[in-house]
Amino acid sequence: MKCQTMSKISAFAGFYKLPVKERLRIVKEFANLTDEETSLLTNTGSLSIELADRMIENVVGAFPVPLGIAVNFLINKRDYLIPMAIEEPSVVAAASYAAKMAREGGGFHTTSTSPVMIGQIQAVNIKDPYRARMAVYGYKEDILKKANEQDPVLVSLGGGAKDLDAKIIHTPSGPMLITELHVDCRDAMGANAVNTMAEAVAPMIERITGGRVYLRIISNLATKRLARAYVTIPKEAVGGEEVVQGIVQAYHFAASDPYRAATHNKGILNGAIAVVIATCNDHRAIEAGAHAYAARTGHYTTLSSWEKDRNGDLTGSLEMPMAVGTIGGAIRTHPIAKIALKILGVKSANELAEVITTVGLAQNLGALRALAHEGIQRGHMRLHARNIAIAAGATDELIDVVTDQMVKERKIRMDRAKEILEQYRKTKP
Ligand code: MEV
Repeated sequence: MKCQTMSKISAFAGFYKLPVKERLRIVKEFANLTDEETSLLTNTGSLSIELADRMIENVVGAFPVPLGIAVNFLINKRDYLIPMAIEEPSVVAAASYAAKMAREGGGFHTTSTSPVMIGQIQAVNIKDPYRARMAVYGYKEDILKKANEQDPVLVSLGGGAKDLDAKIIHTPSGPMLITELHVDCRDAMGANAVNTMAEAVAPMIERITGGRVYLRIISNLATKRLARAYVTIPKEAVGGEEVVQGIVQAYHFAASDPYRAATHNKGILNGAIAVVIATCNDHRAIEAGAHAYAARTGHYTTLSSWEKDRNGDLTGSLEMPMAVGTIGGAIRTHPIAKIALKILGVKSANELAEVITTVGLAQNLGALRALAHEGIQRGHMRLHARNIAIAAGATDELIDVVTDQMVKERKIRMDRAKEILEQYRKTKP
């Protein structure tokens, strides 16, 4: 018998124009979703479906992520509670624990540059790129004036295009002249302002250089918008000389090996990105900037460094691009982001950037200490076991019963969780 399978088609013109309900009906049919599943999608909690529908395209629901509060943070002598949105167990606990150790040494200290972003304008097909480069510098004031006309509000707040650079790069398509606007974005992340300015000055750049402009876009390698955090912790608070030594050697491993550096930096981003997400900032921009900054010398390495100071205490520092805002974009529309900012109590984008960088440093410390001391799994195990217990069907007090048993046996597996549940139910009907 000939068997014919009907393939489903995902090409759907005008999907974006449909009301949420209709989109959901289509997805339900396509993926055989149950009524319960579709109602979970639309049960969006504090982010109303109407607001979600205005934020992005083709909305059918919202995606909740746990929001935890990291405690103990003392930054520049001020106490902070840190909202962190993350799905990974142990991160909030590790940040809080590291911040507790840091308090013993007076907490974290921070600095940051002005909130300057770079907007790139790519000009190609230039006969005389070296002359053209000089010409761009010659017209600098006119170019900056044109850029600033695009955003009088930003300028009135003390921001705007402040300077520019022009560089020649050699590519397989020939030389290109890249003009870079330096835009002080004040409390905004600034992508919109910078992109608008880059687009506005493009015709001018074409006239000045005689070339053709293609790309006009912000750079996420925000080397002019850096945040720094540093900390010194007494060796006793870290766990003694050997633990300090272990952390320093863990850092040396990462600084010398890109395979380890990627994971070391992932630990930093565990903390930083959880705060970036909680405040509805653009985490992809931060991640892209972080890794590019870590590779800026041509060799991918760590964003942080750890040393033993002259007293034998542990001292660590972190510097990374931190393009975050406290105004603009989804930051002031997302109801939870607004509350997260209120909990943080930050007064400016710079302060937020410094807090986020501090959380990155704390997270890095928490991970390195665990790795160099007892290994990461012990801390992870209980939360992992708990998740498995719940997935196996444990509820109420049974969650702890199954979790404890699996941790005791060091057998954290779904089949074992089900077995324990079964046994328990047999003995206690
Ligand atoms: C896990 O999410 C993060 C760590 O791997 C970071 C590190 O190894 O430094 C623990």
